[in-house]
Amino acid sequence: MSEIKIPEGLIKRWERIFGEELPAFLDAIKKPLKPSVRVNTLKITPDEMVKLFEERGIAFERIPWCEWGFWLLNCEEESIGNFWEHFAGLIYIQEASSMIPAQVLLPSASDCVLDVAAAPGSKTTQMAQMMENRGAVVANDISSKRLKALTNNIERMGVLNVAVSCMDGRRFGRLFPERFDRVLVDAPCSAEGTIRKSYKAIYNWHDWAYRKLAETQKALLVSAYKALKPGGVVVYSTCTFSPEENEAVVSYILENYPAVTEEIEVKGLNPSSPIMEWEGVGFHPGVERCIRIYPHKNDVGGFFVAKIRKLGL
Ligand SMILES: C[S@@+](CC[C@H](N)C(=O)[O-])C[C@H]1O[C@@H](n2cnc3c(N)ncnc32)[C@H](O)[C@@H]1O
Repeated sequence: MSEIKIPEGLIKRWERIFGEELPAFLDAIKKPLKPSVRVNTLKITPDEMVKLFEERGIAFERIPWCEWGFWLLNCEEESIGNFWEHFAGLIYIQEASSMIPAQVLLPSASDCVLDVAAAPGSKTTQMAQMMENRGAVVANDISSKRLKALTNNIERMGVLNVAVSCMDGRRFGRLFPERFDRVLVDAPCSAEGTIRKSYKAIYNWHDWAYRKLAETQKALLVSAYKALKPGGVVVYSTCTFSPEENEAVVSYILENYPAVTEEIEVKGLNPSSPIMEWEGVGFHPGVERCIRIYPHKNDVGGFFVAKIRKLGL
């Protein structure tokens, strides 16, 4: 990737976020991401897929936290999109850290799951696979354009347990209170963690955007919380580093609703600690159990994940 000038205001923020790890982080984001795929066990086993990789001469490495995840080491992501195995829905191109939120939510075959912001469907199709095409997933997104990609992916992957809806995710809590066993809020965000894939996220960087996004994120998480049955679990994730969109949002729900965070353990991952104070404001102690995923520590894209249980059973 060619060099890009990172806005000074963003560098200053990253200095505060990464501290002495900043040089390692800046080094890591210059390197392109290793392409990765999830093998679709609704259609093929990982062992059968490994044979197809070998026939193509593809070198691969298994992603430790997802038994169906593979880094493909000697091919470009664009060429994987043209493989017949991709068209046939045997594989789904998905960034390795993006496989983590669904692994943490861990939906089962008897669950009724809501995916509040689902398009283009990486995590929806992953959850359908985890649920062996049983139970039910409502995959929602506000964007009808992006929902087209979601429905294409659902069809391509042979997913049968998903109903698609197009509405503002902030309405679910009011319309469907206490209806879902598990909810995923993979929130719209400033996407700084995708910088290794494209510089798009920082082209029009403005620091006021964080506050605006955080308002939507809080409303989406509150809506998800209300739509959850007592005792149910919501996973909140973003692909960004900003504390306003991460820890502050989780802290808000813990301070205002009966909810607790739970420990997150991800096999083979080297997570970083959450930020417990930002711009003079300390966060709720429960935020301690959230994880940050950094490119320089795991050679992946950036992510933030929180696992929250609704109290009241
Ligand atoms: C990070 S992307 C989701 C990626 C998706 N979960 C996946 O794994 O493929 C965030 C999504 O939130 C959607 N979105 C933004 N505001 C929303 C809202 N108020 N209600 C529902 N979806 C919203 C965007 O259209 C976008 O598709």
